[in-house]
Amino acid sequence: MNPLPVHPRTPVFDIVIEQEDLDAVAEVLRSGWLTMGPRTEAIEAEFAAHIGVRHCVATSSCTTALHLACIAAGVGPGDEVIVPSLTFVATANAVRYCGGQPIFADLIGSHDLGIDPDHIESLITPKTKAIIPVHYAGYAVPIEAIVELCERYGLALIEDAAHAPDAYVEGAGGAPRMLGSFGASGCFSFFPNKVLAVGEGGCLVTDDDQIAATARLLRSQGMTATSIDKQRGEAFAYDVVGLGFNYRFDDPRAALLMTRFRRLHGEIERRRELVHRYRSAFADFDAIDIPYSDEQVDRSSCYLMGVRVDPAIRRDFRARLIERHGVQTTIYPATHRLSAYVEAFGEVSLPQTEAVCASLASIPLFPHLSDSEQDRVIAAVKQTVEGLS
Ligand SMILES: Cc1ncc(COP(=O)(O)O)c(C=O)c1O
Repeated sequence: MNPLPVHPRTPVFDIVIEQEDLDAVAEVLRSGWLTMGPRTEAIEAEFAAHIGVRHCVATSSCTTALHLACIAAGVGPGDEVIVPSLTFVATANAVRYCGGQPIFADLIGSHDLGIDPDHIESLITPKTKAIIPVHYAGYAVPIEAIVELCERYGLALIEDAAHAPDAYVEGAGGAPRMLGSFGASGCFSFFPNKVLAVGEGGCLVTDDDQIAATARLLRSQGMTATSIDKQRGEAFAYDVVGLGFNYRFDDPRAALLMTRFRRLHGEIERRRELVHRYRSAFADFDAIDIPYSDEQVDRSSCYLMGVRVDPAIRRDFRARLIERHGVQTTIYPATHRLSAYVEAFGEVSLPQTEAVCASLASIPLFPHLSDSEQDRVIAAVKQTVEGLS
């Protein structure tokens, strides 16, 4: 048994709920309107404008947004969809919900954990329907190269931007272009450990009217009218015109999302500052390797602070950090190595992903992490690695 403290002194993620968050939610609860309604519509409009697309469809999670995006892309039985393995299982599961097969592409390398466009291209077959790159940890994949592949081979692009609200790349003329705006659909998560933490929730963004209409319809059982349409007297009856789901968001969470969203940019700025502090603290420390470059940090949402250590010491590194210093860490298992995936699709070899997944651990990163607490984490990490090397 691993004697992990329930409340680590320094958790890997943490959130602060402000009085304005509580007030906003209380107001909705008092209003008595608890499903999707005006607050959901308001945050959908603000989020779409922020990403620079015409539509945002709020959903019960990013997983359900990805499922709707796969349906809208026409993924069905016999289709292949290229995905990274360094992700949460939801990315690949969304393909399987549609009867498709996820095909895992390797990542670029230990310095950049994004999916490798060259490897993607080598995996394209006549069965390939779509590509779902993941902006892992909030860092952009080589999105222009992937857009170009999708155009050349006639594939749908779905961005898994679960980690990446407020992250961008420099587009034409150097103007920022938000991640999530490149694909036919972009999917975001509002899960509590994410940069825009609300609870369960997510959204699909798109510039495509048809995709937005499909996502809206299927989010609510394929019904032609929602509860708020009926409440407003805009509909007295409804038809069901497709096989939909209950993937709805609701107004109490929309209110919380709105107040938190308005603080997002400031919080991302602080995350970037903390990541730069970590990077310079470990820069001359040979036993720790940090992916990405300083320039990439400035455009990232800095969701995770990943450090790579010798795979031979990673388990003890994580155990000592929590047991001796109260510092929590997390890891991502490679999706293609998960039991359910090996059982369904057999062994797949992805050397870069396997090397990274064996050596990577995320250390604490959240906007209200103080400089002094971060210094304590830095000292604990250095001392732990030195003690094990
Ligand atoms: C890359 C990625 N995609 C999708 C998801 C699924 O998000 P949700 O929990 O909102 O369904 C996650 C959640 O951890 C994730 O990390």
